[in-house]
Amino acid sequence: MKTQIAIIGGGPAGLLLSQLLHQSGIDSIVLERKSKDYVLGRIRAGVLEAGSVSVLKEAGVGDRLMAEGQPHEGVELSWHNERLRIDLEALTGQVVTVYGQTEVTRDLYDAAEKRGSRIIEEAEVVRIEGVETDAPIVVYKQNGAEHRVEARFVVGCDGFHGPSREAIPQDAQRSFERTYPFGWLGILSETPPATHELIYATHERGFALCSMRSDKISRYYIQVPETEKAANWTPDQFWEELKRRIPEDVANGLVTEGKVLEMSVAPLRSFVSEPMRHGSLFLAGDAAHIVPPTGAKGLNLAIGDVHYLHQALDLAFNHSKNDGIDSYSDTALDRVWKAERFSWSMTSMMHDFPQLGGFEKRMQKAEFDYLMHSESARRALAENYIGLPF
Ligand code: FAD
Ligand code: DHB
Repeated sequence: MKTQIAIIGGGPAGLLLSQLLHQSGIDSIVLERKSKDYVLGRIRAGVLEAGSVSVLKEAGVGDRLMAEGQPHEGVELSWHNERLRIDLEALTGQVVTVYGQTEVTRDLYDAAEKRGSRIIEEAEVVRIEGVETDAPIVVYKQNGAEHRVEARFVVGCDGFHGPSREAIPQDAQRSFERTYPFGWLGILSETPPATHELIYATHERGFALCSMRSDKISRYYIQVPETEKAANWTPDQFWEELKRRIPEDVANGLVTEGKVLEMSVAPLRSFVSEPMRHGSLFLAGDAAHIVPPTGAKGLNLAIGDVHYLHQALDLAFNHSKNDGIDSYSDTALDRVWKAERFSWSMTSMMHDFPQLGGFEKRMQKAEFDYLMHSESARRALAENYIGLPF
Protein backbone atom coordinates (compact mmCIF):
# COMPACT_ATOMS: atom_id res chain seq x y z
CA MET A 1 0.00 0.00 0.00
CA LYS A 2 1.08 3.57 -0.65
CA THR A 3 0.13 6.85 1.01
CA GLN A 4 1.56 10.27 1.70
CA ILE A 5 1.45 10.01 5.51
CA ALA A 6 1.47 6.72 7.42
CA ILE A 7 0.02 7.30 10.89
CA ILE A 8 0.78 4.76 13.60
CA GLY A 9 -1.94 4.66 16.29
CA GLY A 10 -5.67 5.33 16.09
CA GLY A 11 -6.04 7.17 19.40
CA PRO A 12 -7.13 10.81 19.48
CA ALA A 13 -3.80 12.12 18.07
CA GLY A 14 -3.71 9.76 15.06
CA LEU A 15 -7.40 10.11 14.19
CA LEU A 16 -7.36 13.90 14.46
CA LEU A 17 -4.25 14.19 12.31
CA SER A 18 -5.81 12.02 9.62
CA GLN A 19 -8.97 14.15 9.67
CA LEU A 20 -7.05 17.45 9.40
CA LEU A 21 -4.81 16.09 6.62
CA HIS A 22 -7.88 14.99 4.68
CA GLN A 23 -9.19 18.57 4.86
CA SER A 24 -5.89 19.72 3.34
CA GLY A 25 -6.12 17.16 0.56
CA ILE A 26 -3.28 15.03 1.96
CA ASP A 27 -3.73 11.26 1.92
CA SER A 28 -3.04 9.15 5.02
CA ILE A 29 -3.46 5.64 6.39
CA VAL A 30 -3.99 5.01 10.12
CA LEU A 31 -2.72 1.72 11.54
CA GLU A 32 -4.27 0.79 14.90
CA ARG A 33 -3.22 -2.25 16.93
CA LYS A 34 -6.58 -2.70 18.66
CA SER A 35 -10.19 -2.90 17.43
CA LYS A 36 -12.31 0.24 17.18
CA ASP A 37 -14.54 -1.02 20.03
CA TYR A 38 -11.52 -1.50 22.27
CA VAL A 39 -10.24 2.02 21.56
CA LEU A 40 -13.71 3.49 22.24
CA GLY A 41 -14.00 1.55 25.49
CA ARG A 42 -10.91 3.13 27.06
CA ILE A 43 -11.96 5.64 29.71
CA ARG A 44 -9.40 8.41 29.91
CA ALA A 45 -9.35 12.21 29.92
CA GLY A 46 -12.36 14.45 30.45
CA VAL A 47 -11.44 18.14 30.16
CA LEU A 48 -10.79 20.03 26.90
CA GLU A 49 -8.90 23.32 26.80
CA ALA A 50 -10.43 26.21 24.86
CA GLY A 51 -7.79 25.80 22.12
CA SER A 52 -8.52 22.07 21.80
CA VAL A 53 -12.20 22.84 21.27
CA SER A 54 -11.27 25.29 18.49
CA VAL A 55 -9.06 22.72 16.76
CA LEU A 56 -11.79 20.06 16.92
CA LYS A 57 -14.33 22.53 15.53
CA GLU A 58 -11.97 23.50 12.69
CA ALA A 59 -11.49 19.80 11.99
CA GLY A 60 -15.25 19.52 11.41
CA VAL A 61 -15.92 17.33 14.45
CA GLY A 62 -17.35 20.01 16.75
CA ASP A 63 -21.11 19.53 16.37
CA ARG A 64 -21.76 17.00 19.15
CA LEU A 65 -19.03 18.61 21.27
CA MET A 66 -20.87 21.95 21.11
CA ALA A 67 -24.24 20.33 21.77
CA GLU A 68 -23.26 17.94 24.58
CA GLY A 69 -19.98 19.29 26.03
CA GLN A 70 -20.37 21.21 29.29
CA PRO A 71 -18.61 24.60 29.43
CA HIS A 72 -17.03 25.10 32.88
CA GLU A 73 -16.37 28.68 33.93
CA GLY A 74 -14.50 27.70 37.06
CA VAL A 75 -12.74 24.93 38.93
CA GLU A 76 -12.23 24.36 42.66
CA LEU A 77 -9.25 23.44 44.79
CA SER A 78 -9.75 22.29 48.37
CA TRP A 79 -7.57 21.65 51.39
CA HIS A 80 -9.64 19.63 53.86
CA ASN A 81 -12.65 21.94 54.35
CA GLU A 82 -11.02 25.08 52.95
CA ARG A 83 -12.29 25.72 49.42
CA LEU A 84 -10.95 27.96 46.71
CA ARG A 85 -12.78 28.61 43.47
CA ILE A 86 -10.62 29.58 40.50
CA ASP A 87 -12.86 31.69 38.31
CA LEU A 88 -11.41 30.70 34.95
CA GLU A 89 -13.71 32.93 32.93
CA ALA A 90 -13.18 36.08 35.02
CA LEU A 91 -9.41 35.54 35.15
CA THR A 92 -8.80 34.59 31.51
CA GLY A 93 -11.97 35.31 29.54
CA GLN A 94 -12.06 31.63 28.55
CA VAL A 95 -13.63 28.38 29.76
CA VAL A 96 -12.81 24.68 29.59
CA THR A 97 -15.23 22.06 28.26
CA VAL A 98 -16.05 18.76 29.93
CA TYR A 99 -16.32 16.20 27.12
CA GLY A 100 -14.82 12.73 27.45
CA GLN A 101 -11.90 11.45 25.41
CA THR A 102 -14.12 8.52 24.40
CA GLU A 103 -16.57 10.99 22.82
CA VAL A 104 -13.78 12.86 20.98
CA THR A 105 -12.52 9.54 19.63
CA ARG A 106 -16.02 8.43 18.63
CA ASP A 107 -16.62 11.70 16.72
CA LEU A 108 -13.31 11.25 14.90
CA TYR A 109 -14.08 7.63 13.98
CA ASP A 110 -17.53 8.68 12.71
CA ALA A 111 -15.98 11.43 10.57
CA ALA A 112 -13.38 9.00 9.20
CA GLU A 113 -16.03 6.46 8.28
CA LYS A 114 -18.13 9.15 6.61
CA ARG A 115 -15.26 10.24 4.37
CA GLY A 116 -14.32 6.60 3.71
CA SER A 117 -10.75 6.99 4.92
CA ARG A 118 -8.34 4.17 5.57
CA ILE A 119 -8.16 3.22 9.25
CA ILE A 120 -6.81 -0.30 9.51
CA GLU A 121 -7.87 -1.98 12.76
CA GLU A 122 -6.03 -4.78 14.55
CA ALA A 123 -2.91 -3.85 12.62
CA GLU A 124 0.11 -3.99 14.90
CA VAL A 125 3.11 -2.05 13.64
CA VAL A 126 6.23 -4.11 14.23
CA ARG A 127 8.90 -1.91 12.67
CA ILE A 128 9.61 1.21 10.65
CA GLU A 129 12.26 1.00 7.94
CA GLY A 130 14.22 3.85 6.36
CA VAL A 131 13.35 6.69 8.75
CA GLU A 132 16.48 8.49 7.52
CA THR A 133 15.37 8.29 3.86
CA ASP A 134 12.60 10.02 1.87
CA ALA A 135 10.75 6.74 1.44
CA PRO A 136 10.09 5.21 4.87
CA ILE A 137 8.16 1.95 5.14
CA VAL A 138 5.91 0.88 8.00
CA VAL A 139 5.61 -2.85 8.53
CA TYR A 140 2.57 -4.16 10.39
CA LYS A 141 1.14 -7.54 11.31
CA GLN A 142 -2.48 -8.49 10.81
CA ASN A 143 -3.83 -12.00 11.35
CA GLY A 144 -0.28 -13.33 11.51
CA ALA A 145 0.78 -11.90 8.12
CA GLU A 146 3.15 -8.98 7.53
CA HIS A 147 2.10 -6.02 5.37
CA ARG A 148 3.93 -2.88 4.26
CA VAL A 149 2.87 0.73 3.89
CA GLU A 150 5.10 3.01 1.81
CA ALA A 151 4.86 6.71 2.67
CA ARG A 152 6.66 10.04 2.35
CA PHE A 153 6.43 10.64 6.13
CA VAL A 154 5.54 8.50 9.13
CA VAL A 155 3.86 9.96 12.21
CA GLY A 156 4.08 8.03 15.49
CA CYS A 157 0.84 8.64 17.41
CA ASP A 158 1.19 5.29 19.16
CA GLY A 159 1.23 6.34 22.79
CA PHE A 160 3.88 5.80 25.43
CA HIS A 161 4.40 2.07 24.75
CA GLY A 162 4.31 2.20 20.94
CA PRO A 163 7.24 1.34 18.64
CA SER A 164 7.77 4.76 16.97
CA ARG A 165 9.98 6.35 19.60
CA GLU A 166 12.18 3.26 19.55
CA ALA A 167 12.78 3.77 15.81
CA ILE A 168 14.86 6.88 16.59
CA PRO A 169 18.51 5.87 17.14
CA GLN A 170 19.61 6.14 20.79
CA ASP A 171 22.33 8.67 20.00
CA ALA A 172 19.83 10.98 18.30
CA GLN A 173 17.38 11.03 21.20
CA ARG A 174 17.31 12.23 24.79
CA SER A 175 14.60 11.51 27.32
CA PHE A 176 13.69 13.10 30.64
CA GLU A 177 11.55 11.32 33.21
CA ARG A 178 10.07 11.61 36.68
CA THR A 179 7.98 8.88 38.22
CA TYR A 180 5.75 9.36 41.25
CA PRO A 181 5.25 6.82 44.04
CA PHE A 182 1.48 6.74 43.54
CA GLY A 183 -1.29 6.28 40.99
CA TRP A 184 -4.92 7.36 40.63
CA LEU A 185 -7.72 4.89 41.24
CA GLY A 186 -10.65 6.11 39.12
CA ILE A 187 -14.33 5.24 39.16
CA LEU A 188 -16.89 6.03 36.46
CA SER A 189 -20.43 5.75 37.77
CA GLU A 190 -24.00 6.38 36.77
CA THR A 191 -24.53 8.95 39.49
CA PRO A 192 -25.15 12.71 39.28
CA PRO A 193 -21.91 14.68 39.90
CA ALA A 194 -21.25 15.87 43.48
CA THR A 195 -20.95 19.49 42.35
CA HIS A 196 -21.34 21.44 39.13
CA GLU A 197 -17.59 22.16 38.91
CA LEU A 198 -14.53 19.93 39.29
CA ILE A 199 -12.86 19.79 42.71
CA TYR A 200 -9.16 18.99 43.07
CA ALA A 201 -8.85 18.04 46.74
CA THR A 202 -5.76 17.81 48.91
CA HIS A 203 -5.92 15.83 52.13
CA GLU A 204 -3.36 14.20 54.40
CA ARG A 205 -4.85 10.83 53.41
CA GLY A 206 -4.04 11.68 49.78
CA PHE A 207 -5.34 13.57 46.76
CA ALA A 208 -8.87 13.19 45.36
CA LEU A 209 -10.63 14.58 42.29
CA CYS A 210 -14.35 15.01 41.68
CA SER A 211 -15.11 15.18 37.96
CA MET A 212 -17.89 14.20 35.62
CA ARG A 213 -18.88 13.34 32.08
CA SER A 214 -22.48 14.62 32.09
CA ASP A 215 -25.36 15.45 34.45
CA LYS A 216 -25.84 11.71 34.97
CA ILE A 217 -22.28 10.33 34.88
CA SER A 218 -19.59 11.07 37.46
CA ARG A 219 -15.86 10.44 37.39
CA TYR A 220 -13.88 10.42 40.65
CA TYR A 221 -10.26 9.63 41.44
CA ILE A 222 -8.29 8.98 44.62
CA GLN A 223 -4.54 8.80 45.07
CA VAL A 224 -3.37 5.25 45.87
CA PRO A 225 0.10 3.66 46.23
CA GLU A 226 1.66 2.91 42.81
CA THR A 227 1.40 -0.86 43.34
CA GLU A 228 -2.35 -0.76 44.16
CA LYS A 229 -4.76 -2.82 42.03
CA ALA A 230 -8.35 -1.78 41.26
CA ALA A 231 -9.45 -5.36 42.03
CA ASN A 232 -8.52 -4.77 45.69
CA TRP A 233 -11.25 -2.14 46.00
CA THR A 234 -15.01 -2.47 46.18
CA PRO A 235 -17.08 0.53 45.10
CA ASP A 236 -18.20 1.01 48.74
CA GLN A 237 -14.59 1.19 49.92
CA PHE A 238 -13.89 3.71 47.18
CA TRP A 239 -16.82 5.95 48.19
CA GLU A 240 -15.81 5.83 51.87
CA GLU A 241 -12.24 6.85 51.10
CA LEU A 242 -13.34 9.59 48.68
CA LYS A 243 -15.68 11.06 51.31
CA ARG A 244 -12.85 11.32 53.82
CA ARG A 245 -10.74 13.41 51.43
CA ILE A 246 -13.21 15.93 49.97
CA PRO A 247 -14.90 18.87 51.77
CA GLU A 248 -17.49 17.68 54.29
CA ASP A 249 -20.53 19.31 52.69
CA VAL A 250 -19.64 17.83 49.29
CA ALA A 251 -19.15 14.41 50.91
CA ASN A 252 -22.54 14.69 52.61
CA GLY A 253 -24.26 15.34 49.27
CA LEU A 254 -22.38 12.62 47.37
CA VAL A 255 -24.69 10.19 45.56
CA THR A 256 -23.16 6.73 45.56
CA GLU A 257 -26.10 4.53 44.60
CA GLY A 258 -25.74 3.88 40.91
CA LYS A 259 -24.15 1.52 38.47
CA VAL A 260 -20.35 1.48 38.50
CA LEU A 261 -19.21 1.48 34.87
CA GLU A 262 -15.46 1.21 35.36
CA MET A 263 -12.72 1.17 37.99
CA SER A 264 -9.03 1.27 37.12
CA VAL A 265 -5.66 2.53 38.32
CA ALA A 266 -3.56 4.90 36.18
CA PRO A 267 0.12 5.43 36.99
CA LEU A 268 1.56 8.95 37.23
CA ARG A 269 4.60 9.90 35.20
CA SER A 270 6.33 12.93 33.71
CA PHE A 271 8.25 12.10 30.53
CA VAL A 272 9.59 13.95 27.48
CA SER A 273 11.55 12.54 24.56
CA GLU A 274 13.51 15.02 22.43
CA PRO A 275 13.47 15.70 19.51
CA MET A 276 9.97 15.04 18.17
CA ARG A 277 11.27 14.49 14.62
CA HIS A 278 13.99 12.31 13.20
CA GLY A 279 14.34 12.26 9.40
CA SER A 280 10.99 11.22 7.94
CA LEU A 281 9.50 10.26 11.32
CA PHE A 282 7.50 12.64 13.55
CA LEU A 283 6.18 11.91 17.05
CA ALA A 284 2.95 13.39 18.43
CA GLY A 285 1.02 13.00 21.69
CA ASP A 286 1.85 10.38 24.31
CA ALA A 287 4.43 8.81 21.98
CA ALA A 288 6.65 11.81 22.76
CA HIS A 289 5.55 12.93 26.22
CA ILE A 290 3.51 12.01 29.27
CA VAL A 291 2.20 14.29 32.00
CA PRO A 292 0.71 13.27 35.34
CA PRO A 293 -3.07 13.80 35.01
CA THR A 294 -3.35 16.59 37.62
CA GLY A 295 -4.12 19.58 35.41
CA ALA A 296 -5.82 17.60 32.63
CA LYS A 297 -3.13 18.22 30.03
CA GLY A 298 -2.44 14.80 28.36
CA LEU A 299 -5.13 14.78 25.69
CA ASN A 300 -4.86 18.53 25.19
CA LEU A 301 -1.12 18.31 24.50
CA ALA A 302 -1.76 15.59 21.93
CA ILE A 303 -4.26 17.88 20.18
CA GLY A 304 -1.72 20.75 20.29
CA ASP A 305 1.03 18.65 18.67
CA VAL A 306 -1.33 17.53 15.93
CA HIS A 307 -2.37 21.11 15.27
CA TYR A 308 1.28 22.15 14.75
CA LEU A 309 2.08 19.09 12.67
CA HIS A 310 -0.92 19.52 10.41
CA GLN A 311 0.07 23.14 9.72
CA ALA A 312 3.63 22.01 8.99
CA LEU A 313 2.60 19.22 6.61
CA ASP A 314 0.08 21.47 4.87
CA LEU A 315 2.89 23.99 4.22
CA ALA A 316 5.17 21.25 2.91
CA PHE A 317 2.68 19.46 0.63
CA ASN A 318 0.52 22.36 -0.53
CA HIS A 319 2.98 25.27 -0.55
CA SER A 320 6.35 23.49 -1.02
CA LYS A 321 7.74 25.08 2.15
CA ASN A 322 9.69 23.01 4.67
CA ASP A 323 10.00 25.63 7.46
CA GLY A 324 7.07 24.11 9.35
CA ILE A 325 8.34 20.56 9.36
CA ASP A 326 11.84 21.76 10.22
CA SER A 327 10.64 23.75 13.25
CA TYR A 328 7.90 21.30 14.37
CA SER A 329 9.93 19.66 17.11
CA ASP A 330 11.10 22.95 18.68
CA THR A 331 7.66 24.55 18.41
CA ALA A 332 5.84 21.60 19.95
CA LEU A 333 8.44 21.01 22.69
CA ASP A 334 8.31 24.64 23.78
CA ARG A 335 4.62 24.25 24.64
CA VAL A 336 5.04 20.68 25.94
CA TRP A 337 7.63 21.74 28.54
CA LYS A 338 5.34 24.48 29.86
CA ALA A 339 2.53 21.95 30.30
CA GLU A 340 4.99 19.53 31.92
CA ARG A 341 5.89 22.29 34.40
CA PHE A 342 2.25 23.01 35.19
CA SER A 343 1.28 19.33 35.59
CA TRP A 344 4.32 18.68 37.78
CA SER A 345 3.63 21.72 39.98
CA MET A 346 -0.07 20.85 40.45
CA THR A 347 0.90 17.25 41.23
CA SER A 348 3.60 18.38 43.68
CA MET A 349 1.30 20.81 45.47
CA MET A 350 -1.69 18.52 45.86
CA HIS A 351 -0.49 14.95 46.53
CA ASP A 352 0.69 13.22 49.65
CA PHE A 353 4.32 12.24 48.98
CA PRO A 354 5.12 9.51 51.52
CA GLN A 355 8.79 10.53 51.76
CA LEU A 356 8.18 14.26 52.32
CA GLY A 357 9.17 15.81 55.64
CA GLY A 358 7.51 18.60 57.60
CA PHE A 359 9.20 21.37 55.61
CA GLU A 360 7.89 20.22 52.23
CA LYS A 361 4.40 19.71 53.64
CA ARG A 362 4.42 23.30 54.90
CA MET A 363 5.55 24.39 51.40
CA GLN A 364 2.53 22.63 49.88
CA LYS A 365 0.17 24.39 52.29
CA ALA A 366 1.91 27.74 51.71
CA GLU A 367 1.29 27.36 47.97
CA PHE A 368 -2.40 26.76 48.58
CA ASP A 369 -2.57 29.75 50.96
CA TYR A 370 -0.79 31.93 48.40
CA LEU A 371 -3.40 31.01 45.81
CA MET A 372 -6.12 31.82 48.37
CA HIS A 373 -4.80 35.33 48.87
CA SER A 374 -3.32 36.32 45.53
CA GLU A 375 -5.36 36.99 42.43
CA SER A 376 -2.12 37.03 40.40
CA ALA A 377 -1.37 33.49 41.55
CA ARG A 378 -4.89 32.38 40.67
CA ARG A 379 -4.61 34.03 37.25
CA ALA A 380 -1.35 32.18 36.53
CA LEU A 381 -3.02 28.89 37.46
CA ALA A 382 -6.11 29.71 35.40
CA GLU A 383 -4.03 30.70 32.35
CA ASN A 384 -2.30 27.31 32.40
CA TYR A 385 -5.46 25.34 33.17
CA ILE A 386 -7.43 26.77 30.25
CA GLY A 387 -4.36 26.10 28.08
CA LEU A 388 -1.49 28.24 26.79
CA PRO A 389 -2.05 29.66 23.30
CA PHE A 390 -0.79 27.76 20.26
P1 FAD B 1 -3.17 7.05 22.89
O1 FAD B 1 -4.53 7.49 23.26
O2 FAD B 1 -2.42 6.21 23.86
O3 FAD B 1 -3.27 6.30 21.50
C1 FAD B 1 -2.22 5.54 20.99
C2 FAD B 1 -2.78 4.47 20.10
O4 FAD B 1 -1.71 3.77 19.47
C3 FAD B 1 -3.57 3.44 20.87
O5 FAD B 1 -4.86 3.32 20.34
C4 FAD B 1 -2.76 2.16 20.73
O6 FAD B 1 -3.56 1.01 20.71
C5 FAD B 1 -2.02 2.41 19.43
N1 FAD B 1 -0.79 1.63 19.28
C6 FAD B 1 0.16 1.39 20.22
N2 FAD B 1 1.12 0.58 19.73
C7 FAD B 1 0.78 0.33 18.44
C8 FAD B 1 1.36 -0.47 17.42
N3 FAD B 1 2.48 -1.14 17.62
N4 FAD B 1 0.75 -0.52 16.22
C9 FAD B 1 -0.41 0.15 15.99
N5 FAD B 1 -1.01 0.91 16.93
C10 FAD B 1 -0.44 1.00 18.14
N6 FAD B 1 -5.18 12.48 30.34
C11 FAD B 1 -5.90 13.42 30.93
O7 FAD B 1 -5.77 14.60 30.54
N7 FAD B 1 -6.77 13.08 31.96
C12 FAD B 1 -6.94 11.77 32.36
O8 FAD B 1 -7.73 11.49 33.25
C13 FAD B 1 -6.18 10.77 31.77
N8 FAD B 1 -6.30 9.47 32.16
C14 FAD B 1 -5.51 8.52 31.55
C15 FAD B 1 -5.58 7.18 31.94
C16 FAD B 1 -4.76 6.19 31.34
C17 FAD B 1 -4.83 4.75 31.81
C18 FAD B 1 -3.85 6.59 30.32
C19 FAD B 1 -2.94 5.56 29.66
C20 FAD B 1 -3.80 7.92 29.92
C21 FAD B 1 -4.62 8.90 30.53
N9 FAD B 1 -4.58 10.25 30.14
C22 FAD B 1 -5.32 11.18 30.74
C23 FAD B 1 -3.75 10.70 29.08
C24 FAD B 1 -4.53 10.86 27.79
O9 FAD B 1 -5.53 9.87 27.71
C25 FAD B 1 -3.52 10.74 26.69
O10 FAD B 1 -2.66 11.86 26.80
C26 FAD B 1 -4.13 10.64 25.30
O11 FAD B 1 -4.79 9.44 25.13
C27 FAD B 1 -3.02 10.77 24.26
O12 FAD B 1 -3.51 10.44 23.00
P2 FAD B 1 -2.59 9.72 21.94
O13 FAD B 1 -3.43 9.57 20.73
O14 FAD B 1 -1.29 10.44 21.87
O15 FAD B 1 -2.23 8.30 22.57
C1 DHB C 1 -10.43 14.27 34.57
C2 DHB C 1 -9.15 13.78 34.56
C3 DHB C 1 -8.12 14.62 34.93
O1 DHB C 1 -6.86 14.19 34.93
C4 DHB C 1 -8.36 15.93 35.31
O2 DHB C 1 -7.32 16.71 35.68
C5 DHB C 1 -9.63 16.40 35.29
C6 DHB C 1 -10.68 15.56 34.90
C7 DHB C 1 -11.53 13.36 34.18
O3 DHB C 1 -11.28 12.20 33.84
O4 DHB C 1 -12.69 13.78 34.24
